Amino acid sequence: MQHALITGASMGIGAAFAREYARQGHNLVLVARSHALLQTLAEELRRESGVAVTVCVEDLSDAESPARIYACCRRQHIGVDLLVNCAGLSYAGDFQEIPFGKLEEMMMVNMMAMARLTRLFLPDMVTKRVGSIINVASLGALQGVPGLGLYSATKAFVLTLSEALHGELKGTGVKVVAVCPGFINTDFFEHAGHNRANLRLPVYGTGVVVKAAIKGLKKNRVRVFPTLIDTVLVFSQRAVSRKIVIRIAGFIAAVKDC
Ligand SMILES: NC(=O)c1ccc[n+]([C@@H]2O[C@H](COP(=O)([O-])OP(=O)(O)OC[C@H]3O[C@@H](n4cnc5c(N)ncnc54)[C@H](OP(=O)(O)O)[C@@H]3O)[C@@H](O)[C@H]2O)c1
Repeated sequence: MQHALITGASMGIGAAFAREYARQGHNLVLVARSHALLQTLAEELRRESGVAVTVCVEDLSDAESPARIYACCRRQHIGVDLLVNCAGLSYAGDFQEIPFGKLEEMMMVNMMAMARLTRLFLPDMVTKRVGSIINVASLGALQGVPGLGLYSATKAFVLTLSEALHGELKGTGVKVVAVCPGFINTDFFEHAGHNRANLRLPVYGTGVVVKAAIKGLKKNRVRVFPTLIDTVLVFSQRAVSRKIVIRIAGFIAAVKDC
């Protein structure tokens, strides 16, 4: 049976992807740590959309978790034709202040888990000549953001790998898109210790990310920016020096309280 596997599905953007793909009739594998949240969402989706939902409780900061997720799907004869790498976390503060545990966790979840899951599930998609991968990057991927240095670097990794995959997979029947959201209304900022009140751009609902990613896949885009403001910001980078780009990014994210 074909399924969409979504990491970070317990809340926020990942849960929004799960709701949309259930609405479209996809069976789902939902991955995150929060067992109760995943179970509640799974019951809602089975009840309202009639799809099959498998819950996979895993901590993606554990290097072995992607292999366990892949093995679990194999055991249950679940074929994954859509992979949404959405799980992620940030830390608001200067790089020199990040606790070492948080540094490792962010790199493991944002980069390693995304790369390992893609490496595990991709060969089956290529063999079947059908499949899609959505990687949730960020506007932060396009430049280093002062105060969010490691986070922006992990998202640059996601974006760069997605772009290379898009090129490598041409003609295979497998599509890859990176979606680069600006600020989205989830608990992400609270989890990162980032004061949302400081943000200097509008905060949008999760729907814009899901819509942009799905449209991007359909049109076989390399990367997509969910809102007009995101697009204007990205293109305006071309007109100014890199120093100014970085300064503006830090100003907009406003990690430090003024
Ligand atoms: N919100 C924004 O403004 C924004 C902007 C650009 C990009 N993004 C990206 O969008 C993605 C989703 O973020 P969000 O806004 O939805 O944030 P969120 O509400 O904090 O959700 C993060 C998700 O990642 C999961 N996750 C975190 N650490 C995990 C771990 N160790 N193992 C397994 N799952 C883990 C969480 O599940 P559990 O806690 O249950 O494990 C949760 O489902 C992230 O990659 C983020 O970088 C967000």
